[in-house]
Amino acid sequence: MTTIYTSDIEEAASFIRRGQLCAFPTETVYGLGADATNPEAIDRIFEAKRRPADNPLIVHLADADAIGEVAREIPTAAADLAAAFMPGPLTLVLPRRPSLPSGVTAELDTVGVRVPDLEVTRRFLAACAVPVAAPSANLSGRPSPTTWEAVREDLDGRIAAVLTGPPAERGLESTVVDCTTPQPTLLRAGAIPTERLAYVVPDLVVGAPEDAAAPRSPGMKHRHYAPHLPVHLVDSVAEVADPERSAFIGLALPKSCIWMPRVRLCSSVEEYAHDLYDFMRQCERDGVERLYCERVPDEGLGRALMDRLRRAAQG
Ligand code: TXA
Ligand code: MG
Repeated sequence: MTTIYTSDIEEAASFIRRGQLCAFPTETVYGLGADATNPEAIDRIFEAKRRPADNPLIVHLADADAIGEVAREIPTAAADLAAAFMPGPLTLVLPRRPSLPSGVTAELDTVGVRVPDLEVTRRFLAACAVPVAAPSANLSGRPSPTTWEAVREDLDGRIAAVLTGPPAERGLESTVVDCTTPQPTLLRAGAIPTERLAYVVPDLVVGAPEDAAAPRSPGMKHRHYAPHLPVHLVDSVAEVADPERSAFIGLALPKSCIWMPRVRLCSSVEEYAHDLYDFMRQCERDGVERLYCERVPDEGLGRALMDRLRRAAQG
């Protein structure tokens, strides 16, 4: 199939309404959208991404007021989190309405919902006029795409359309919180730091960072976020071997250390999180043989960043 690349929101939404797949920008990463009420459209997502069928999809809505269309109940913690962080990079797992096709939620009794905080995304979702199920728009197991060009790299010829928009502002996926448990539980660290969530829901259950490998969220047990090159976690650029064929990404270092051909120095953890997936893809294209990533403290956004880095290093 020939993939259409368009910046026309109405045209992009028409693919969703016809049961086709259309990738679209969000503030976190690009998503691969399909009509969440159409079981055949949902099957197409799993096919196009080569995604395991047991990994549920997040349902995207233009407005938090529409959550009741896909969730049969909104627990207090969820309502509080929604009021504080929606629209934004937060996904709430809620009891699902039985009317939702079971393929969306991988047969689970729950559904993940998110209201993205990007004007073009909200207008796109409003134009679709249906809830839009969307995983990140990469081939399963690859780094999430932060630009429409990265979507093209993985999915050109496999999906009907791409709504071309700006590069993702955050570059890291949404934080996922399960609100169906007696206490709200962090399932995936993400763009909103857990410390900020805890202001609103002090009883939030957050596992040890290294426990992330224990799959609470089905998607987290699959190989994830990994580029096609070995990734090593280090404490500084001084640990890099074979600098000619390697690359390094990390926080700003003294200028005297910048002797490698491929170094990405980031001035903050936010910038590091923003640049990581893009840099991984760039290293692959450049034929880099080894990627060294600087460790950061497991706090704030660093928790989500370290989660992705550990997974990539497990590769
Ligand atoms: O920022 C994001 O969340 C991006 C953009 C496109 O919105 N989406 C995204 O989707 O990262 P995906 O499919 O790559 O990751 C969704 C994660 C997976 O780990 C999945 O297992 C989890 O959310 N998830 C979705 N629905 C769930 C549910 N009902 N119960 C538990 N986990 C769920
Ligand atoms: Mg993904």
